[in-house]
Amino acid sequence: MLRIGVLVSGRGSNLQAIIDTIKSGKLNASIEVVISDNPKAYALERCKKHKIDYQIIEMKNSPSRKYFEEKIVGILKSKNVELVVLAGFMRILSSYFLKNFPYRVINIHPSLIPAFQGLHAQRQALDFGAKFTGCTVHLVDESVDGGPVIIQAVVPVLPEDTEDTLAQRILRWEHKILPQAIQWFSEERVIIEGRKAFIKDARYGELPVNPALEIF
Ligand code: GAR
Repeated sequence: MLRIGVLVSGRGSNLQAIIDTIKSGKLNASIEVVISDNPKAYALERCKKHKIDYQIIEMKNSPSRKYFEEKIVGILKSKNVELVVLAGFMRILSSYFLKNFPYRVINIHPSLIPAFQGLHAQRQALDFGAKFTGCTVHLVDESVDGGPVIIQAVVPVLPEDTEDTLAQRILRWEHKILPQAIQWFSEERVIIEGRKAFIKDARYGELPVNPALEIF
């Protein structure tokens, strides 16, 4: 059973997907703690409903970013967290944080990285006129929304799309690729070679998700 800590800032639909996939028995992980930098995050309601331990650590109550990150690291270490999952966590983590969890921090981003990094990735795809976009789970390094890619899903952009309709279409795949990536960590199948990540014995080469989903 992989012990995970989930960092959130808002709605928490990806957190919910993790909870549901664990409950269904397809994801062999336990959520040891959820940490939010936003006291109003709806993700916290989900924690209450599912009796998951949560903590709120606000940047504005922290004298420095180092202090803010030290508090989060302290909580994650006290819970013996083995994998840190950023699920809609809207802050950049420093090398101090990352050194505490080497190759053990992952993030979900609503684009095909390296396209449309940073904020409002769906709007960026629409404004650019991209015909495909998608979502990515990647290891976190010091770049913003960079780091070795674990899994990606391709999603079409339609002429009538709004930011909201496109975000919803992407989200359906986020909710699959994030639990799938965590399951691969749980099975110890994620191999890092330089800036690339591979999944041992995964099926590569299909659409719309590469490598192919196994638990959905
Ligand atoms: C998701 O679309 C996630 O990919 C995105 O924020 C949303 C959070 O939704 N993350 C980023 O843009 C990170 N750069 P959720 O709170 O419902 O999971």
